[in-house]
Amino acid sequence: MLVSAKEMLDKARAGKYAVGQFNINNLEWTKAILLTAQELNSPVILGVSEGAGKYMTGFETVAAMVAAMDKSLGITVPVALHLDHGSFEGCYKCIKAGFTSIMFDGSHFPIDENIAKTTELVSAAHHLGLSIEAEVGAIGGEEDGVVGKGECADPKECKQIADLGVDFLAAGIGNIHGVYPANWEGLSFETLAAVNKEVGEMPLVLHGGTGIPDDQITKAISLGVAKINVNTECQLVFAEATRGYIEAGKDKQGKGFDPRKLLAPGFEAIKAKVKEKMELFGSVGKA
Ligand code: 13P
Repeated sequence: MLVSAKEMLDKARAGKYAVGQFNINNLEWTKAILLTAQELNSPVILGVSEGAGKYMTGFETVAAMVAAMDKSLGITVPVALHLDHGSFEGCYKCIKAGFTSIMFDGSHFPIDENIAKTTELVSAAHHLGLSIEAEVGAIGGEEDGVVGKGECADPKECKQIADLGVDFLAAGIGNIHGVYPANWEGLSFETLAAVNKEVGEMPLVLHGGTGIPDDQITKAISLGVAKINVNTECQLVFAEATRGYIEAGKDKQGKGFDPRKLLAPGFEAIKAKVKEKMELFGSVGKA
């Protein structure tokens, strides 16, 4: 059931668990995530970066595929189709294409410009019933060409952006996209606690979910995080499972080269990873 992400995240925040945002890249990814959410009776958010949207031939294709698959698979749990790290123009494209949620990443603009652009997009999104996420303090690392320095958010700026009426807020707390370097210092719970205090009941978003130790995830949820984004980890297990299949020579046995067979181990690996994360985040049975 395609819905905005507002209600599921308000419920998660109040119930002290988090809903996973899993980024999609193609049909297999989408199907694996939707089926796992349904099996576990968990709400879920499908994240689409601008790069992945382009790869799938555009946001209209993505919206059409997700809507049709949601229907064909008989998915009854709440599913939000969410633009990840959207540009100002990208947000408008997704609103038009039929997404149910958008993220405007204005973190690289001066705060006044971030405020002006976020304000306009809040009104455009809410007018059509979409939820909207904003960002303060850039998430470190690189994701599909979006590069961030990884600075911690200023809690007062978070309050300013939260007051614009966004539905959930991503605040940089030392988190990084991709695999964490060995010398990573961990999440800044001092920053998270200060942001949480400023923004009241606003669900907070933790980007860069790949590789964050379980105890830090649990602590982040206790401090207001209600949405956790995972992308790289699904890519890594997909690649590993696919490599295992080919290295075992299975593509050369019978019709093992059939893409439905070739991609099956990766598909199952994504399902297992999504299940593991939903259990950790506490969203199982919360649909
Ligand atoms: P990872 O790729 O580190 O899991 O981050 C995902 C993310 O934050 C998407 O916005």
